Amino acid sequence: MDLFVSCAPGLEPLLADEIRQLRLGSPTEVAGGVEMSGGLRSIYRANLELGLAQQVRARLGTFLATTGGELGRKTAKLEFERWIDPGRPLRVSVTSRGSRLAHTGQVAERVRRAIAHRVKGTPPPGRGGAHVHVRLVRDRAQLSIDTSGAPLHRRGYRLDPGPAPLREDLARALVVVSGWGRAGRLVDPMVGSGTVAIEAALMASGRPPGGGRSFEFEHAPCFDPALWARTKAAAGRKEERAEVFGSDRDPDALRRAAANAERAGVTLRLDVASLSEAPGVRATPADGALVTNPPWGERLEGDTSRLYRRLGELVAGLPRSWKAAVAMPAERRAPRPFSSVLVTDARGIKIRLCRRGP
Ligand SMILES: C[S@@+](CC[C@H](N)C(=O)[O-])C[C@H]1O[C@@H](n2cnc3c(N)ncnc32)[C@H](O)[C@@H]1O
Repeated sequence: MDLFVSCAPGLEPLLADEIRQLRLGSPTEVAGGVEMSGGLRSIYRANLELGLAQQVRARLGTFLATTGGELGRKTAKLEFERWIDPGRPLRVSVTSRGSRLAHTGQVAERVRRAIAHRVKGTPPPGRGGAHVHVRLVRDRAQLSIDTSGAPLHRRGYRLDPGPAPLREDLARALVVVSGWGRAGRLVDPMVGSGTVAIEAALMASGRPPGGGRSFEFEHAPCFDPALWARTKAAAGRKEERAEVFGSDRDPDALRRAAANAERAGVTLRLDVASLSEAPGVRATPADGALVTNPPWGERLEGDTSRLYRRLGELVAGLPRSWKAAVAMPAERRAPRPFSSVLVTDARGIKIRLCRRGP
């Protein structure tokens, strides 16, 4: 089966590396994600184990379609009955570029009817069930089904995000960008609701990022519970010896971080402290990383520059072996001693991920 694993823009090379490291497939980077092939086990593993992905889609067919009749006939040949339970809601999303079938509403209706014929029932329209994507480019239709359900960054632990949280996949990308080896110490001295620290602790613990949530493929008629149980049992990897510190000057933020960490099943060392007093950067072991997401926004402009200066000084005082990474608005240049690695996007907000050194 052809699979498309999507991710936040800019993260494609990181996602491809993650897939290779997990020996999950041979990914090819494309805009917005990677393509790879695999069967049910790969779909289960990708959803459960990929921390940088947003969604795993199974491509069910690609064909030429210039009329509604052709689209309907060819769609009805695809094996939708393996993926769609007629009793659950069905959503059909369509994009069309340079194609004779340009009316996306009519395309969706044709596809919906063909699927109903195939699954021998009429799934009610709506969200919260199966989601079919139709992509028409120069008269070629590509039909795929989302196997994930809620976007994969929703791990289920962050019920209390607080103000300005960093999305879970981007927090993990920041840890990856830092070069932290998943062992030794990791410090977030502006921990907020704890996302960076929790993702780091999950990475070190070997616990799969999707271990605390469910997926749409569990509702598919082709769902194989025994294979899923085996996949989950095999997913826990060896635990690294890591200690993850988080501090923040706001005690409320720490309460949120503690509750989120407990839900995620990880242990963090949390303290109320200002940036320059962060306990994690005292008596430092040889291996470590400082990874953080300082506050940003126009109102804070003057303060933010001071904060970056202080952060730069703090990092400069760490052992040379220590890694460091910072997330910041894309319109700012990387402050010393950081250099820009990539720019990504979360709901239209462009974010720059930087690491220590060149
Ligand atoms: C953007 S938030 C971090 C969000 C976090 N990454 C998350 O996902 O929830 C920035 C945090 O930095 C903290 N902060 C700002 N200035 C600080 C300082 N000088 N010392 C310690 N913490 C500070 C704020 O209280 C806030 O919780």
